[in-house]
Amino acid sequence: MTGFLLPPTPIASIEDYLATSGGRGLARAVELGPAATIEELTRSGLRGRGGGGFPTGQKWAGVAAQTGTHRYVVCNAAEGEPGTFKDRSLLRANPYQLVEGLVIAAFAVGATEAFVGLKASFTQERERLTNAVVELQQAGVCGDCQVTIVAGPEEYLFGEEKAMLEVIEGGDPLPRLFPPYEHGLFATAPQTGWQATESGPGHGHRHESNPTLVNNAETLSNVPHILARGADWFRTMGTTEAPGTVVATVVGDVVRPGVGEVALGTPLIQVIEDVSGGVAPGRRLKAVLSGVSNAVITAADLDAPFSYGGLSAVGSGLGAAGLIVYDDTACMIEVARMFSRFLYVESCGQCPPCKRGSGEITAGLARLERGEATTHDLDEIAGWLDKVTDGNRCYLAVEERVVVSSILRAFPEEVVAHLEGSCPRPRRLPIPKIVDLADGQVTYDERQWRKQPDWTYSEADDADPGQLRPQA
Ligand SMILES: Cc1cc2nc3c(=O)[nH]c(=O)nc-3n(C[C@H](O)[C@H](O)[C@H](O)COP(=O)(O)O)c2cc1C
Ligand code: SF4
Repeated sequence: MTGFLLPPTPIASIEDYLATSGGRGLARAVELGPAATIEELTRSGLRGRGGGGFPTGQKWAGVAAQTGTHRYVVCNAAEGEPGTFKDRSLLRANPYQLVEGLVIAAFAVGATEAFVGLKASFTQERERLTNAVVELQQAGVCGDCQVTIVAGPEEYLFGEEKAMLEVIEGGDPLPRLFPPYEHGLFATAPQTGWQATESGPGHGHRHESNPTLVNNAETLSNVPHILARGADWFRTMGTTEAPGTVVATVVGDVVRPGVGEVALGTPLIQVIEDVSGGVAPGRRLKAVLSGVSNAVITAADLDAPFSYGGLSAVGSGLGAAGLIVYDDTACMIEVARMFSRFLYVESCGQCPPCKRGSGEITAGLARLERGEATTHDLDEIAGWLDKVTDGNRCYLAVEERVVVSSILRAFPEEVVAHLEGSCPRPRRLPIPKIVDLADGQVTYDERQWRKQPDWTYSEADDADPGQLRPQA
């Protein structure tokens, strides 16, 4: 494994950080000025590591070009996607680079206020981050930029950028309508339609949209290194379309679940082997999911390059580089059901086709898994997969469609086997929402299967009957 983001031992103090060339990225940015800083980042080819892979320099340039009196910068460290633990690993290993990246971003887009959103349950990471912010502030590294840490809820949607802005403002994680660069933090501009009056009651100024930059924790952690060592250095790693490294998480049916930094473009199978040791001896790798945002990858495509283009060429995507591996003992209908249930439960319901559709798909898959489904159920599932994204405010509904339809398409023989009778591979599959990952041991969120579609937690033993099915 290779890299610069994950040090072999955690950076324990600001003295350690400054001794490993910490602060040089910000100094270089100040020397260059905002426009040239954005240009350098654009030249580096860095792309967002939060899941979408959007070119970071282009995103910064877009926010910098917006009008208005206030801008904000937000670091997304909510990390709630099943199968990912890389942002938390980065926060444990080196929170300083993230804060420096955030301050550089604020400088480049003209913001003086920055926020880091992470879950209240990430106690160890919050402590590391809080200490790093205080130390960097005291050392004058943050300059005029005020950095505020916001501890948010457990919900998956907290990590969705439009929902994160709501949480920072004190609301629930319900995605708002417009993207952050159009309707940012504390914006006073109306979100929809027109207003007959110039200002709302109690609001005496002109409306402002406060363009806001949201970047993932790993994306921002790359920034000081790129500024300090230059775009050309960054491009010596990875591929032309995906330069640099990526911090991958590998869990599931593997020998030693783990997190490791690899060059983008490394063959997928090598990433799995290097980070986790691969599947157990005697077992065959059957399928891989990169989080819950992309289509399933089958054993036929394990040589695909681990990069944005490499995985999209095999019909999938890099996502947040969190790999969930299944061996030949896993039932893919149960995999589809379990992820569909996760997305159904986590859907906020602001767009009825998303909540209703993911619920109906989950129910249909549960019938199929129990061997009770008919071809009519399959038609129902297909119909809802078609409609589930209608009027969607956020990408969660697309995830439901992509994950479920790709599994049903890739494993038709398992669909047929379930239509003909009961499950040939009954085995409990945990929802791989990670609460800790260290020393080759992964701990999943034990409470997730009890979570209900209204975001309460059931104490009943049949909260999710699929999860309780007896082992064969
Ligand atoms: C349901 C949902 C959950 C998400 N969760 C996260 C998350 O936990 N962390 C994250 O960085 N991005 C998450 N994203 C993506 C963010 O909305 C956003 O694209 C990202 O933070 C942008 O940063 P980047 O350009 O640096 O990748 C999520 C998206 C969706 C639709
Ligand atoms: S698409 Fe689904 S999760 Fe996203 S805002 Fe709409 S209902 Fe909520």
